[in-house]
Amino acid sequence: MHETPESDGGRSRSRWTRAQAASIERRHGNVAPPAGAPAADPFPELHVWDTWLLRDRHGDIADVGGYRLAFSLTAPADLLPGKRHDVAEIRCFYSPDGREWRDAGPVFDGGALGQRQWAGSALYDDGEVYLYYTAAGDETADEMTYTQRIAVAHGGTVRADEGGIELSGPWTHETLLTPDGEWYETEAQSRGMTYTFRDPWFFEDPATGETHLLFEANAPAPEREGDDPATAHRREFNGCVGVAVSESGDPLSWELRPPLLDAVEVNQELERPHVVVADGRYYLFVCSHVHTFAPGVTGPDGLYGFVADALDGEYRPLNGSGLVATNPPEAPFQAYSWMAFAHDEVVLVQSFLNYHDFAGDSLDAIADLPEAEQRERFGGTLAPTLRLAVDGDRTRLRGTLDAWRIPTPDEPLPPADDSELPDGDALGGRIREGGSAGGYVAGPSGAVDDGAVDDGMIDDESADGGGGESLRNAGSGESDGSHGAI
Ligand code: FRU
Repeated sequence: MHETPESDGGRSRSRWTRAQAASIERRHGNVAPPAGAPAADPFPELHVWDTWLLRDRHGDIADVGGYRLAFSLTAPADLLPGKRHDVAEIRCFYSPDGREWRDAGPVFDGGALGQRQWAGSALYDDGEVYLYYTAAGDETADEMTYTQRIAVAHGGTVRADEGGIELSGPWTHETLLTPDGEWYETEAQSRGMTYTFRDPWFFEDPATGETHLLFEANAPAPEREGDDPATAHRREFNGCVGVAVSESGDPLSWELRPPLLDAVEVNQELERPHVVVADGRYYLFVCSHVHTFAPGVTGPDGLYGFVADALDGEYRPLNGSGLVATNPPEAPFQAYSWMAFAHDEVVLVQSFLNYHDFAGDSLDAIADLPEAEQRERFGGTLAPTLRLAVDGDRTRLRGTLDAWRIPTPDEPLPPADDSELPDGDALGGRIREGGSAGGYVAGPSGAVDDGAVDDGMIDDESADGGGGESLRNAGSGESDGSHGAI
């Protein structure tokens, strides 16, 4: 799985290969049950999507005066869902019990970097809050741009009392990381359908005590002499999981290191990378889309994962292919932006409800629907929390909890009910081929996943422990119902 580019300074680089990705398929244990329309939406006036929890240095959910805090990208709910990325605003929600959530409002009051702010992570350390985020777009430009850099806000205050949580500035905003052009592609170098340098995620390695920021990026894969046109095109799909370290542990001072993993010729976007440590192993999770797979490789919108014995790797794709969790075939875009967190013996996964009522192959078709329908089919709130067993190199979904259910490890879970998981015919349906046209193609050309899948890779008995989303033209379309999504 690895080859050592000279620039990696001798460290072997893990790779997600085309051969591994060729075995991606829906099977019992990786398909979530249909979610349907939100049973209850605690914030109907908002679109809520990418969400992360306030955690301490050890990765545990922070307790701030009896509350747990979540940060989400949000936009007004009357906005066409596909346009939300262009106006994304980070808000804070808090809960005394991981069930009922209240809105603490937008986190920044002006002053944040970028034209808008995208996903990140939040660290609570010594009573200080560090909000890592993506500064998207160049705030000095007149028009909308898609530059991305990794930023932090610090110096704000969080207060808790019986009335709730108050988060207030002033915040100091700093750019922490930009792509170097060697390990991480710059926007100017990008040949692909989208360019990424975003989604910082704080992680302290329990084994070494070293402090890391993981992020989504692209590994330079320039045109090479002698490549045939098909190979040259496949190499445009060059997603990677980036990493930076803070040798002193200072949450504000970072140095780039070579990617932890790349997916050159496999996939363009490895989104929101994050790690859960279980049984001493490092489970590296990313989200990705059907339309960002390279030509000839096919996978659904889903949570993908890799496992290694150390943070540096070498990573092996979970379940052989990398696919950990996806949506049911009748609602292939039902949820997105999955983020896993540890709960006692299992792993839980929160995500947001995307287009829960749409059976097409591509989110492009959403944009053709009347605007009211686009809104109706879009969730814009958290999806049911997934329960995931992890066991060595294998994972298996075990059922769901309510939407917005974010329990801490000391809160016991009800018994898992595997019976709600799709099986047999309910797994059928084609997975459309990926980005052969560099984005959404008109009409499916996908490989067939007929439903009669063999569940052979998971031993059920033993696994017990454990729109149209191209950023470049995000939201700029006339009737855009999906291009704004990423
Ligand atoms: C995932 C994502 C993130 C990005 C955000 C912008 O859903 O693409 O990578 O930060 O959406 O809305």
